[in-house]
Amino acid sequence: MKFDEIIDRRDTYCTQWDYIEDRFGKGTKNLTPFSISDTDFKSPEPIIKAIIKRAEHGIFGYSRWNHEEYKGSIENWYRRRYNTRIEKDWIVYSPTVIYSISIILEDLVKNNEKIMTHTPRYDGFTKILKEYQVIEISLLENKDGIYETDFIKIEEEFKIGVKVFLLCNPENPTGKVWSQTELRKLIQLCNKYNVILLSDDIHMDIARKDVTPVLKLDTENCIIVSSASKTFNTPSLGGSYAIIPNIKIRDKFINHIKEKDSLSSPNIFGIISTIVAYNQCEQWVEELNKYITINCQYVVNELNGYKGLKVSIPEATYLMWIDFKNTEIKVDELKKSLVKVGKVAIMSGENYGDKYKLRLNVGCPLEKLKIGILGIKRAVDNCKQ
Ligand SMILES: Cc1ncc(COP(=O)(O)O)c(C=O)c1O
Repeated sequence: MKFDEIIDRRDTYCTQWDYIEDRFGKGTKNLTPFSISDTDFKSPEPIIKAIIKRAEHGIFGYSRWNHEEYKGSIENWYRRRYNTRIEKDWIVYSPTVIYSISIILEDLVKNNEKIMTHTPRYDGFTKILKEYQVIEISLLENKDGIYETDFIKIEEEFKIGVKVFLLCNPENPTGKVWSQTELRKLIQLCNKYNVILLSDDIHMDIARKDVTPVLKLDTENCIIVSSASKTFNTPSLGGSYAIIPNIKIRDKFINHIKEKDSLSSPNIFGIISTIVAYNQCEQWVEELNKYITINCQYVVNELNGYKGLKVSIPEATYLMWIDFKNTEIKVDELKKSLVKVGKVAIMSGENYGDKYKLRLNVGCPLEKLKIGILGIKRAVDNCKQ
């Protein structure tokens, strides 16, 4: 199985493997990392071949994204995979998803206007939101382990005034996939109170439950920002896109990128990889999903119930959200023990808003994952309970 292949990523300027010390401190270079959300898998062969062919051309002058091949590949992906019709004119290139969110908020949210979002949440959101008034809605786990939002609180706050709801669909780090019923309810509230729904769908393709893009349900007040980079493991090639049906918001976005921030030429490798990924690599995504589900099942078999740990298969993403509250181990003690005894670099839930969780990246060969699981067990065994 191709996803089993262990490929040495060290000495490739790789954030996950070469810069462990940046996140876990001095002397942690030799830990096995399960941290930042990229994978240890090679991109699909058609992407690699297309990149090599373009690299061999040898001329890397300024480039363009506003053409049929790029926009058509995205439009096609949404139609085939999500049964969602988007118009090519709605698509705008952007260097990264987080950059898109940042400029959309800058363009739309003025003075004391408020942004609503969930907690726990992706730390990239938290960094952007620092400069804004934010209303947090807690995602709460029900008895079946499914995360739910609080529509009553959402409506109460909408009544007072919210400009943008920043959603993550599926959610990082909980892996929640928003159901059509939930999305309809949220969209109905957004329309009623004139709130823009900005949905970050970067994790949409790696899922164990059907994902609905918000634009399938409504095009009036919704925007999607996404990228092929998580699915196909290409974030260092650069490139993402925003899908903005509202022409005024879209024009502001394009103006912001081109005129204010002077970003006109995309990275050609990001453009090529997106076109090839979306046109030729759907079968690869099916296989990737199967492999990740097997990894998730392995983690659940090994860790759920182990000395009080609690973990279930997430509805989406290659990120697992492990609860250690019932172990009664102190947060700092476990963090230290994971590094010193377990020899593993695993993100603390503190980064996302829940200190009693660990976020484990299972986008890796099973052989590496086994090292991680042994490390977690050793670390837990070493702590006082
Ligand atoms: C929800 C979410 N959005 C955005 C990103 C980052 O995307 P980009 O590098 O395109 O900004 C990540 C990466 O982990 C993510 O999890």
